[in-house]
Amino acid sequence: MVMKQMKVAQLAVVLGMGLFIVACGGEAEGPVVPPPPAPAEYADKHMPAGWWADAAKMEEGRKLFIGETNPDVNCASCHGKDGKPVKAGARDFRNGERMKLYSDSVWFWRISEGVPNTKMKAWKSKLSDEDRWKLLLYERNFGLAGKGWDADKKSWVDAASVSAAPAAAAPAAAPAAAPAPAGN
Ligand code: HEC
Repeated sequence: MVMKQMKVAQLAVVLGMGLFIVACGGEAEGPVVPPPPAPAEYADKHMPAGWWADAAKMEEGRKLFIGETNPDVNCASCHGKDGKPVKAGARDFRNGERMKLYSDSVWFWRISEGVPNTKMKAWKSKLSDEDRWKLLLYERNFGLAGKGWDADKKSWVDAASVSAAPAAAAPAAAPAAAPAPAGN
């Protein structure tokens, strides 16, 4: 009797999980897996200092994204104006759980070089570095609004609290010679 009730309960749990997976993973994206690391030439590239909280730069990114600045560059034609993909397979930037696994370097690398064997082509020949950073600034808005990648902490934090330019942190300050503790 007790056993039977347990079986029913277990079945309910399994069914519930199945529905949950269908509901959440049903989008074409599949499981959330981290992206590959950025190759060496991109690994140290980061958002220009001060841009994460710069609304004007982000607005320029928006105009680029929707093809207003240049009709030949229309990210929204696949990724959707509101971030909801309109072409099958295009990355859904609204998925913050996935996108937070992308550092700004990886994100910039993908915009620059594209993703081999997909419709996502390389944009570095059409867009300046600055334009590609502006696009990232806008795209992060769909799933990571108000956040910025902190290169020191290696995570997304509130845009306003992103550590100062990585350049400033580059030359490690020589440790001040600490006076030897007195006594023993
Ligand atoms: C012709 C359709 C198309 C256009 C236009 C397009 N993309 Fe994509 N994009 C895709 C597809 C498809 C993927 C998914 C590739 C994959 O499977 O990783 C993708 C993926 C991405 C990714 C994530 C790559 C990854 O590793 O997950 C970024 C970032 C991106 N696009 C940015 C842009 C930007 C910025 C533009 C405009 C300059 C743009 N895309 C224009 C189709 C497009």
